[in-house]
This record gives sequence, C-alpha cells and structure tokens, in this order.
Amino acid sequence: MKEELKALGEEAKKLIEKSSNIDEINNIRVEYLGKKGKLKNILRTLGKLSPEERKELGQLANRIKEELEDLLKEKTQFLKKKALEEELQKNRIDITLPSHWIETGSSHPVISTLIDISETFVAMGFSIAEGPEIEKEEYNFDMLNIPKDHPARDMQDTFFLNNGEILRTHTSPVQIRTMLKQKPPIAIIAPGRVYRKDADPTHSPMFHQIEGLLVDKDVTFRDLKGILKIFLESVFGKEIKIRFRPSYFPFTEPSAEVDIGCTVCGGSGCRVCKGTGWLEILGCGMVDPEVFKAVGIDPEEYTGFAFGLGIERIAMLRYRITDIRLLFTGDMRFNHQFKGIR
Ligand code: PHE
Repeated sequence: MKEELKALGEEAKKLIEKSSNIDEINNIRVEYLGKKGKLKNILRTLGKLSPEERKELGQLANRIKEELEDLLKEKTQFLKKKALEEELQKNRIDITLPSHWIETGSSHPVISTLIDISETFVAMGFSIAEGPEIEKEEYNFDMLNIPKDHPARDMQDTFFLNNGEILRTHTSPVQIRTMLKQKPPIAIIAPGRVYRKDADPTHSPMFHQIEGLLVDKDVTFRDLKGILKIFLESVFGKEIKIRFRPSYFPFTEPSAEVDIGCTVCGGSGCRVCKGTGWLEILGCGMVDPEVFKAVGIDPEEYTGFAFGLGIERIAMLRYRITDIRLLFTGDMRFNHQFKGIR
C-alpha cells in the first residue's frame, strides 16, 4: 500500500507538471485530494491494517497530500501570472505612438489688448462697468448732449432697430447709465462692442471701445493727462511721444484728441501716419455740465473727465496689422500668429 501511495503521489505530480490551465489543476485537485478522490480511497482501507502500519501510512499520506497541495498552489499561481502576462502582452499600449494632435487655442489680439488696457486701469483703481449693445437713443445721444439734428445720428452712421432702439454707436451711454445709478466719486471703464455703418480697411461695422469716466470733487484736465500718460506708456512703452490736440465732442468741454508718435516710422512720416508722424489714438475731455445736469449731478460741486478709444486701432498699431477686417475673418492662420502674446 505504501508503494501504491507513492505511485499515486508521483502520478499526480506528473499531471500537475503537465497541466496548462486552471481547469486542469482544479480537476487534478478533485481527482486526487477530493472527498471521493484517489487518496481518500486508499486511506479508507487503512482500517484493515495494524496500528503501527496505519500510523506510518497515515503520515505518508499526509505528506503526499501536503506536497500535492503545495504543488497545486504553486502551479495555480504560475498559471494565473502567465495568463495575466499574456493578457498584458495582447492589449499592450504602445506609448511611443504619436497621439492625436490637439491644437491649442490662442487669445484674439483684440481681446488681449482689451484685457491689457482694462488691467492697467483696474490697477489705478477704476472698476469695470457694462451696458447693453442695444441701447436707447436717449442714453446714446440725448443725455450726452447730442441734439436731434447732430450728424452723428445720421442714418449713415447709426443702425436703427424697428422697435425705436439702436445699436450703440459708442460706449459713452455706459457713462450715463453709471451716473444715473451711482453717486460720485465714480471711476469706471466700460469696454464693449459698438456699431457704426462703416466698412473699409480701417473701419469695421462692429468694433470695440473702452470708455473711461472719473467724477469727483476737483477733478482737473491735469488728472486726465496724467492718467492717459500712464495708460499709453503702459501699452506702447515709456518712450512713446504723446500730444493733446484741441477737439470737439458734444459731451465734453473742453475736448481733446490724443495722438501718439507713429509706432511704425517713429515720427519721420510713413503711409500709416499719412506722413504726419502722428497717430490719432483717443478722444477725451472734461464732462460737459449739460451731461451732469441730465443725470442729476451738480456741476458746481463735481467735475470729471471722460475718454474713449477704439481697441482694434490700438491692437493694429501694437501688432502692426494693416487691415482691420483681418481681425474678424475667423481665419485660424491669422489668429494663430498671436499665440502666446498673453
Ligand atoms: N464717444 C466718443 C467716440 O466714440 C469718444 C469719447 C469718449 C470722446 C469720451 C470723449 C469722451 O468717438
């Protein structure tokens, strides 16, 4: 019986060795070590033997059982590992393959310029105000001291809507809206889209402006000059030449236009500055007392300045873009040239 046990052990060992999958292993376990397995069958006959023999064979059977259990466990682990490796090999991800190319976006030059300008004024204590693009004539014109017969209202400039409202022609109505709801001191800038019936290489029917308004006691033209100098130097660099030219706006008195030394030729005269060496960059002035009266601010107590500028114009000078229409084509080849400028 001893030999029989040993032979059984050897037989099982060989089968375990040969087995190549988990199912086979499980079958071997049942066949040899299971309740009705071969080992149990032999042990059942032990009762017929003497106590010494029984003891000896019992121990031998246990050793064989343990040995086989160890082998089965080992083989199971080996097969599981192998299966996992095969699986990994099959589904291998080649990380050296180039991935899909995802084009990164870029900030539009008008938006970059708008943000830069806004940040300069916010740093000086101005807050940002907004107003609607569809505006009442009253706010866009009347309350800004632009009379009914003023040429700016002309059908050629203004987009009139059927409901009697208009597309705002400038950001100045935001001044009115702000002063109607806020008492001085006021320091705001109002960036946004404006609309005029105008289209050529330097004019677009939709463009962006930034309006500035400061109202307080004892605000003078000197404050206006100082603030604009800081702003223009921050956008165009400390070396920029600035000049104020007397001008006219219905809502400011006195009014001025501000020129900077031509950024293309440096002042010697070129096509961009039309040979003058100067570029017109913004309009400004001291808030007209008529405007204060229209919004209920006492012009004897308060003074203020306002200014307005076109963002596209600044962006064009800054990035040397010669046709405003390029800014609105949506052509990605154009837009991508400005990658990383902000
Ligand atoms: N609103 C004027 C324009 O669009 C610009 C401006 C604003 C001038 C504020 C003076 C003061 O031309």
